[in-house]
Amino acid sequence: MNEIFQRVSIRKYEERPVEQEKLIRILKAAMAAPSAGNQQPWEFYIVRDKETIRKLSEASPYAGCAAGAPAVIVPCVRTKDLRFPSMAVVDMAITTEHILLEATSLGLGAVWLGIAPEEDRVKYVNDVLGIGDRLSAFALVPVGYPAEERPWQDRFDESRIHCVD
Ligand SMILES: Cc1cc2nc3c(=O)[nH]c(=O)nc-3n(C[C@H](O)[C@H](O)[C@H](O)COP(=O)(O)O)c2cc1C
Repeated sequence: MNEIFQRVSIRKYEERPVEQEKLIRILKAAMAAPSAGNQQPWEFYIVRDKETIRKLSEASPYAGCAAGAPAVIVPCVRTKDLRFPSMAVVDMAITTEHILLEATSLGLGAVWLGIAPEEDRVKYVNDVLGIGDRLSAFALVPVGYPAEERPWQDRFDESRIHCVD
């Protein structure tokens, strides 16, 4: 899959907005992710309000780049009625990776900003978005047209492969 070998974290974005159809296409890819028992524990916020984005960019010392993004996707996990609650964090990681890959495929730049499982960050984002207790923020993913170029890193390392034949 080409996007896997093209995706890099992009932290600088053009000011122009991202088309709604592209954001929906990204979330269609996100919701195509596999999940434990097909529990699909996710819901997603699309944040375009500049002041809210500014607040989100203060969710951690490493989230500052979100401030320059025209949109931030916030994958959230349902907190109740999950069939396999302990697996939900794994499901959320997969859906978040789908977001990054589909953004790449659409010519957009994005980066995963870690929120869960750091409790103080989760609480901060939940409060900023007024999420309530049915959902909980998992990550921040700023999305925009790239305003930086970063080379793709080949991290293939044969010594990490162990064959049992
Ligand atoms: C769980 C997770 C949390 C991350 N958190 C941050 C973050 O808080 N801030 C940031 O700038 N990048 C964050 N990143 C992006 C990583 O720094 C990046 O993926 C890594 O350096 C490899 O670079 P690449 O994505 O360009 O291949 C995170 C990535 C993951 C998977």
